[in-house]
Amino acid sequence: MTEHFISQTLEQADTEFDISLRPQRFSDFIGQQKIRERLELFVAAAKGRNDVMDHVLLCGPPGLGKTTLAYILADAMGVNIKSTSGPVIDKPGDLAGLLTNLERGDILFIDEIHRIQRTVEEYLYSAMEDYVIDIVIDQGPNARSVRLNIPRFTLIGATTRSGLLTAPLRSRFGLTNRLDYYSFEDLQTIILRSARILNADIREDGAMEIARRARGTPRIANNLLRWVRDFAQVRANNRITPEVADQALLMLDVDAHGLDDMDKRILGTILNKFSGGPVGIRSLAVSVGEESDTIEEVYEPYLIQEGYLKRTPQGRVATARARELFGMKPAGQGELL
Ligand SMILES: Nc1ncnc2c1ncn2[C@@H]1O[C@H](COP(=O)(O)OP(=O)(O)O)[C@@H](O)[C@H]1O
Ligand SMILES: [Mg+2]
Repeated sequence: MTEHFISQTLEQADTEFDISLRPQRFSDFIGQQKIRERLELFVAAAKGRNDVMDHVLLCGPPGLGKTTLAYILADAMGVNIKSTSGPVIDKPGDLAGLLTNLERGDILFIDEIHRIQRTVEEYLYSAMEDYVIDIVIDQGPNARSVRLNIPRFTLIGATTRSGLLTAPLRSRFGLTNRLDYYSFEDLQTIILRSARILNADIREDGAMEIARRARGTPRIANNLLRWVRDFAQVRANNRITPEVADQALLMLDVDAHGLDDMDKRILGTILNKFSGGPVGIRSLAVSVGEESDTIEEVYEPYLIQEGYLKRTPQGRVATARARELFGMKPAGQGELL
């Protein structure tokens, strides 16, 4: 199911390649101006008071820079960062272990925090609020609760599905930031920066050609650049021009809008098999042969943002723009959209 470039790029764990291109300070972090300013201010205020930074939640589709920002924040605060992820924390004891090993001011980064188990999540509340954790030791008649003090710390949570976060957890973050898809210009700048690090010979218009097809997503932009660089090395004397980028990306089945064949399968299925929708996510997932989580987290947000797809209470609906993409006429009277 992961033969598709986009889901493969966005669902895999951070590779060495991703890490080598990851900006380490705010000054290298391109775009997301508002969020960057807000976070820089947050850091400056905490540092000015010699205080521990309040908890931060970072939301948004995969590949937009949540992990990157967590590390930048640690660097800016001059503290250690420990990284884990929601599904990995099995039991409250694991969480207690992580928390008691922190030093004052350290950052605990929990990726995919919406996937944390409820039983573990409840312990997080008192940890975030009062810096204590009540652990039950022993069993049966000897069971008793022991209160552990933990150092004041900063929790940074990242999530691709903020809607799945419980209200009590969400309310315990001092600052919530939602990352948006990047503009072509920002992606072009990111690609040029990455090309410098990779020592790739790229023209500015070549970078723009890749940027337009990167789904507003830095991680995709970098991975497309890597592919195009390899293509240029073998077929084009190492020089990345718009034509070279175009040929290279068509070979990956990434079209001029940045859509790949799974995007098209999703839209085509809604249009042809479900008469344009509405169709429930589960039926859609079965029809296209992809997991519904992947559709919801990886494909759908971009299709919605670009106006190919709509989410309604009855299900997913393909829009006029999707019809256009397939060379279909606009829907007639009486049909939805
Ligand atoms: N604002 C940015 N400027 C430059 N590169 C970025 C930016 N945001 C993300 N990247 C690049 O994209 C890759 C993916 O970002 P990451 O932080 O891992 O995304 P997320 O955690 O949201 O999935 C990083 O390795 C980094 O190279
Ligand atoms: Mg991440």
